[in-house]
Amino acid sequence: PNHQFCEAGIGYGDSTCGTSIPSSNKLLIKGGTVVNAHHQQIADVYVEDGIIVAVNPTITVGDDVHVIDATGKFVMPGGIDPHTHLEFEFMNTVTVDNFFSGQAAALAGGTTMHIDFVIPINGSLTAGFEAYEKKAKKSCMDYGFHMAITKWDETVSREMELMVKEKGINSFKFFMAYKGALMISDDLLLEGFKKCKSLGALAMVHAENGDAVYEGQRKMIELGITGPEGHALSRPAVLEGEATARAIRLADFVNTPLYVVHVMSIDAMEEIAKARKSGQRVIGEPVVSGLALDESWLWHPDFETAAKYVMSPPIRKQGHDKALQAALSTGVLQLVGTDHCVFNSTQKAFGIDDFRKIPNGVNGIEERMHVVWDIMVESGQISVTDFVRLTSTECARIFNIYPRKGAILPGSDADIIILNPNSSFEVTAKSHHSRLDTNIYEGRRGKGKIEVTIAGGRVVWENNELKAVPGTGRYIQMEPFSYVFDGLDKKDASYLSSLQAPVKRAKSTA
Ligand code: URP
Ligand code: ZN
Ligand code: ZN
Ligand code: ZN
Repeated sequence: PNHQFCEAGIGYGDSTCGTSIPSSNKLLIKGGTVVNAHHQQIADVYVEDGIIVAVNPTITVGDDVHVIDATGKFVMPGGIDPHTHLEFEFMNTVTVDNFFSGQAAALAGGTTMHIDFVIPINGSLTAGFEAYEKKAKKSCMDYGFHMAITKWDETVSREMELMVKEKGINSFKFFMAYKGALMISDDLLLEGFKKCKSLGALAMVHAENGDAVYEGQRKMIELGITGPEGHALSRPAVLEGEATARAIRLADFVNTPLYVVHVMSIDAMEEIAKARKSGQRVIGEPVVSGLALDESWLWHPDFETAAKYVMSPPIRKQGHDKALQAALSTGVLQLVGTDHCVFNSTQKAFGIDDFRKIPNGVNGIEERMHVVWDIMVESGQISVTDFVRLTSTECARIFNIYPRKGAILPGSDADIIILNPNSSFEVTAKSHHSRLDTNIYEGRRGKGKIEVTIAGGRVVWENNELKAVPGTGRYIQMEPFSYVFDGLDKKDASYLSSLQAPVKRAKSTA
């Protein structure tokens, strides 16, 4: 293979060199409707060395350029999944998708970047970061990291600063659930929020009341309800609403922005809506499973089928899905993730006699773009520009990597997808690219098909063929103080000066 373009991680890997894709670093996407979050137009997109060079109505090029015809199709920024767990050690096992297989699946579904959660090792952020650095070496697409905070002391506090200032992390996740494992208490949450604020890092929460969940689980077992439905019954939406409200109020008290991950219920969504209405900076992330499914699967008579839908917070009753879609379409919620965290049937079977032992997590990294297109765009709830904003641009803005990511603009990374609105997609575990042996969207069909994925200027998905190359993905450092922090210092200053206004009290007479 010819390696002349394989410089600095940009260019073609060996498996693509000399095959149907020419070993050229120049690419022209012709005649498509180029869609950004703010605008769409029919234009050509010219790419060189992994970077978008020009977006113009008519671009003419020489013979050395690989040309892709996109007439009648949408040319959009590749998806960015803000919430994934690849090679995640959780509930006494490890997810089956690693940084190669999970990303390969993502590419086949039009996602070209994801942000994964680093889990500290015995509370050490540095050790956790190093472990994830190793896991991510096989990456075939760009990725970033959030970091979980699972305990609190001076070392953790100092390491948070190190992560932000030297390691490219600008967000920290706090678990208000998983008692006895990842869960932290309110005093730690407060310390964490304060530290996040001082660093310009975004505080994220998994919002469920872990103590109450523990009690709910005990109650279900006592009642003899041990199947997957017990998972939903033990942690009702009210517990998600309570924790969401609590996190929002604590973030307000500290005056720091808050990002609520996997918003699964009307209860949580309405707390976010209320806070946003009052001017508080709260971001809500629904995930595809919560938008597209309902809990009825958990009552399925076949354990294997039911267990694959177990995730936390649980997929809710019918009605929550539609309400979350509406919240997304009206701006109450801002971007869509997946929480891709996958366990095979044999792993799910750990909980055959006790739902508490079913590893929590569902798939979505490969299906997100298609399912969101189908339920949101094809249903007429959002525009194509909105689709780009919700699946890519807003994530890039929140995590401060815009416009390198999330846009089709000169200078942006060439992470591009081509979607044919007149074709259709179908999901099945038989042909998906994840290593998972099941799929929660099994049999689902819909309109719209991502026909081409370009990652870092490489055509990695075309004609239903995947050409993912381990080691071609890059770690994307994310700077602190994204736009959600803009003006916060002024709010703090006016609050402080209001406190310092002198109080006039009459002198006490002895
Ligand atoms: O069930 C879930 N959500 N598994 C992944 C871990 C988490 O809470 O995000
Ligand atoms: Zn090569
Ligand atoms: Zn979570
Ligand atoms: Zn998660």
